[in-house]
Amino acid sequence: MTIEAVVFDAYGTLYDIQSVASAADRAFPGYGEMITQVWRIKQLEYTWLRSLMRRYEDFSVITRESLAYTLRSLGLKYDAGVFERIMDKHVHLDLYPDARQTLTDLKQYKLAILSNGSSGMLNTLVRNTGLDAILDATISIDSKRIFKPSPEAYSLIKDRLGITPAQVMFVSSNPWDVIGAKSVGLNTIWIERVSPEAMAEACQNSELVLPLTMFKALRTQMDELGLAPDYRVHGLSALAEILSSVPA
Ligand code: LAC
Repeated sequence: MTIEAVVFDAYGTLYDIQSVASAADRAFPGYGEMITQVWRIKQLEYTWLRSLMRRYEDFSVITRESLAYTLRSLGLKYDAGVFERIMDKHVHLDLYPDARQTLTDLKQYKLAILSNGSSGMLNTLVRNTGLDAILDATISIDSKRIFKPSPEAYSLIKDRLGITPAQVMFVSSNPWDVIGAKSVGLNTIWIERVSPEAMAEACQNSELVLPLTMFKALRTQMDELGLAPDYRVHGLSALAEILSSVPA
């Protein structure tokens, strides 16, 4: 079975979620990094908790609620204007430097995003960053009302693109997402942005465990859930070579 489509996770894979730090730091000088890490950890946690509680709210609500939690948990006072300025960065996230070229190089495949993001926020982000001209589909899990890594969320790839899991290469830097995709039979590539060696060095060289180090320890290393990705690369630019070597 040949690969027909390459489907990407959005946040952390094509888009650099760490790029909210500058906006957060402008709003609260000195707190940018801490806000960024706590926000992302809580945002993901809330998707899983809401799915388990069967109390779905879309990702834009979760993103707002997790930012509210973050500012409150750090004891930061804010008004609506400050809150909206930080939120706005979420629909203007930076693309990873290799994202646009990688997508352009893969245009012989159907190219799509499958993201936990709500349709509204994803479409805005994709348009703001010009990826709408390159992608064939931007798929939000909205219609299933349950977040990745639920199998229902990944089943949207088949529904929307009309192809089987064996014809899909799913790409994510989020370990839990790669495992979730693998678990339902998709081919998977994990973007390993932080090597174990870099992790070991970061831990040895910090007297204090910095928030970013804490985030990396929690969210960038492959999980122990009994499955492993098919391929492991260190950047999006390695995708074309892997895809060309996938046996038919
Ligand atoms: C995504 C996030 C959760 O689905 O990484 O895009």
